[in-house]
Amino acid sequence: MLGKFWLPLGVTTNCMAGLYIHIPFCRKVCFYCDFHFTVSLKNKDKIVESICREALLRSDYLEGRPLKTIYLGGGTPSVLGLEELLQLFSHMYKILGCSNDMEITLEANPDDLTLDYLQNLKKYTPINRLSVGIQSFIDKHLIWMNRRHTAEEAIKCIEHAHQAGFENINTDLIYGIPQMNLDQWHFNLETMTQLNVQHISAYHLTIEPNTILGRRYKKGLVQETGEQLSWQQFEMLVENLGKKGYDHYEISNFAQPGFYSQHNTNYWNYIPYLGLGPSAHSFNGHSRQWNSCVNADYIAGVETGGAYFETEKLGANELYNEYVMLAMRTKWGVDKENLKEQFGNKYLRHFVSESVKFVETGHMVENTGQFRLTCKGKFISDYVISGLFYME
Ligand SMILES: C[S@@+](CC[C@H](N)C(=O)[O-])C[C@H]1O[C@@H](n2cnc3c(N)ncnc32)[C@H](O)[C@@H]1O
Ligand code: SF4
Repeated sequence: MLGKFWLPLGVTTNCMAGLYIHIPFCRKVCFYCDFHFTVSLKNKDKIVESICREALLRSDYLEGRPLKTIYLGGGTPSVLGLEELLQLFSHMYKILGCSNDMEITLEANPDDLTLDYLQNLKKYTPINRLSVGIQSFIDKHLIWMNRRHTAEEAIKCIEHAHQAGFENINTDLIYGIPQMNLDQWHFNLETMTQLNVQHISAYHLTIEPNTILGRRYKKGLVQETGEQLSWQQFEMLVENLGKKGYDHYEISNFAQPGFYSQHNTNYWNYIPYLGLGPSAHSFNGHSRQWNSCVNADYIAGVETGGAYFETEKLGANELYNEYVMLAMRTKWGVDKENLKEQFGNKYLRHFVSESVKFVETGHMVENTGQFRLTCKGKFISDYVISGLFYME
């Protein structure tokens, strides 16, 4: 049987769409982070204006498909004040097709989430989901990462979010931090689940070359967490959250029943989305577009009608590779019939024959035509999934 999210490409691309808005500002540089942001907030109002204008310029990109989700990501969207958020929403609602039942997520840092701010979000904006970057409940880790908040502030902000009436909250945690032992990771998981959040995203620390952490690593000042400890932390994550009723529905994502991230699930299901703001990506089923990562170029392009994004037309191999990459990350995996229907026998034969070795090694399982990663396979998912790609 197909998972309930899997629909043939032609169907999904015609019925709904998502909107991503990138807010490229942060108050402080986290040492590990390679996302696009600047800590100079001086162009905040210009960026908000340009994003509103970009929505107008690209309003037909989604070809009339109604928006089902809006995701304000970053960077740190919670650096925006209430007025800036209202300006964005009033433009989006006016220009793009919005409905009343949309999932609208704001990515936020704990230090921005005062009770007052949260109550205003709840009262005046349509935001109905928060995604809060907690990372760890151990101050030593937060200092090491150069985070702006303490563990106590992180706990307080989740309590405030509940108090303000938010009933759909995601929190991000990072494991595989050097010097993090199993007891500390266990403590973080226990603390998080006691806060009764509906959704948890847990990422293994990646040492990105273009970050302060990456430069320290290159100089030999930082050691990567060993594979065995990383594996033990991943295993603990899956077991612990599973026991507490969180469904492990994507490699890094866990949800209480009814609280899958609709926006991200739509990405994994190939549903079109428009990305506004510097560095944002867009996808319409056949091509990808990505905006300039230079804020000044983005603003100038939007304001003067110059080029501010690039486009890549996706060929059959890229579409297949992307489909496999996204589907295999989820608990539904790849369905043979669905793969054949969308890509034909050539790609089906390739997928099935490349899967054999991973099934033999216990990294994948097949059950009535559905192929999924096992826990062991999820741990090295990049390696396994790239082994299923079609290369010419
Ligand atoms: C784009 S950030 C935005 C969240 C928000 N600005 C914050 O930091 O609270 C989304 C999440 O990606 C994760 N992340 C970013 N860089 C990472 C890295 N190098 N390794 C692991 N996780 C990372 C963090 O958990 C972070 O909360
Ligand atoms: S983790 Fe969040 S707050 Fe830190 S630099 Fe990245 S986007 Fe900004």
